[in-house]
Amino acid sequence: MAPHATDLTPVYEDSADISSTKQKSAAAALEAISDAVDSVNQLRGAISSPQRSHCDTPIDAPPGFTPARDVETFRQYHHACERVKHFYAEQHAKQTVAYNLKARAHFHSASRVRPEMTIWQAIEKLDTLVDDSDPDTELSQAQHLLQSAEAIRKDGKPRWMQLTGLLHDLGKLMFLLPGCSSGQWDVVGDTFPVGCKFDELCIFPDKFEANPDSKHEVYSTKYGIYEPRCGMDDLMMSWGHDEFLYLVLRDQSTLPREALAMIRYHSFYPWHKEGAYREFMAEGDEELLTAVRSFNPYDLYSKGDEVPNVEKLKPYYLELIDEFFPNKVIKW
Ligand SMILES: [Fe+2]
Ligand SMILES: [Fe+2]
Repeated sequence: MAPHATDLTPVYEDSADISSTKQKSAAAALEAISDAVDSVNQLRGAISSPQRSHCDTPIDAPPGFTPARDVETFRQYHHACERVKHFYAEQHAKQTVAYNLKARAHFHSASRVRPEMTIWQAIEKLDTLVDDSDPDTELSQAQHLLQSAEAIRKDGKPRWMQLTGLLHDLGKLMFLLPGCSSGQWDVVGDTFPVGCKFDELCIFPDKFEANPDSKHEVYSTKYGIYEPRCGMDDLMMSWGHDEFLYLVLRDQSTLPREALAMIRYHSFYPWHKEGAYREFMAEGDEELLTAVRSFNPYDLYSKGDEVPNVEKLKPYYLELIDEFFPNKVIKW
């Protein structure tokens, strides 16, 4: 029995109008769940259980971060997990091969009207996703992107990596584009490959029970539609803001492959944090894994840093953007 794909019905009728109450509250809810997902990943980083022995301390973690292992951390972890459990129940049930094929077909469709914006316009657009007055959101999107970029810059990392920090969540724009997402579950959250067995090291692995692919004769097998050591690039990653941005930037920037990997796999915690799916890695993928792991602390742990002054930093980053984007205007 073929899996049932959810329709990619546009949730937001008019992408130009992001001021409607309906859209504002949907965007606020997206950000709230995205923040909760981040909290869980921060706390998972702090809790190193024996079963998750593949966890490595993130390399190049910024100074000042010491993994906490106290009772309070465990308590926070369970509380945050409760908040995101329902989210993952939906995400794990609906991320099927059929859905992913449909999402990609829509993305590449010649009839899709792709909004055209510069990177900076995209950052500003993303910033309007959530009202600044929203009590659930401590930082705006632009501030989170700039904090990540600034933390990378302060540590003297290469310019392409600084830019990657600035770009990495711009895929969330998909939430505003008609037909590119169906809700929260295909925008944010941890990612994983579809078309092969869902690994036990994914968060809430029991929630995959409701995914028809978990009973599919091919997709439920260890390698599924892939060959061992096929290379990470060949995996069809679950649809979300990571994959969306990767597809946008792959053909429109001169960013190195490490940067594209940081973007494509930044939510792929089962791989970069838990050590799952290594059987698909080919020559050269170890370097990508190192790159993704190097990037992760700047995404997760830079949020406590000082709030960046967007206007003050803008000239530096505009120049940086120009360095890696031959065409200023990007098709999203
Ligand atoms: Fe992200
Ligand atoms: Fe992020």
